[in-house]
Amino acid sequence: MSGTAAGPAGLLTEIDHAAIAVNDLDAAIAWYAEVFGATVAHRERVDSDGVEEALVKVADSYIQLLTPTRDDSPVAKYLAARGEGLHHVGYRVADCALALQAVIDSGGRVIDETPRPGSRGTTVAFVHPKTSFGTLIELVLG
Ligand code: CO
Repeated sequence: MSGTAAGPAGLLTEIDHAAIAVNDLDAAIAWYAEVFGATVAHRERVDSDGVEEALVKVADSYIQLLTPTRDDSPVAKYLAARGEGLHHVGYRVADCALALQAVIDSGGRVIDETPRPGSRGTTVAFVHPKTSFGTLIELVLG
């Protein structure tokens, strides 16, 4: 593996998405469509995470609008505590396990100990925001 003393180079390949927690998914989709002419590339209910998401396409990346589907969903707790707003940033990676291991090896705290299935057939792992400067990070492969 190539890298420097500062760490391995190039594990993050692109911004996949910026995720925004919203109370009303349809209203948020309509706002992006009406104001910016942005279209939904993918919409999916992810029961394991208790969310429904819509991916609004922006060039090669997405705005991921997220709303909870049940009261015990982490996104429901987020909305209750903080209100609508930026929830996490998704970085594309070439190797999800390798990028996750880099966080663990650095002493960082992770939410997923191993990569797991995400929406639209991706493989994902979340890094705890306490490790990553207050920002919840999702590593996205696929
Ligand atoms: Co995400």
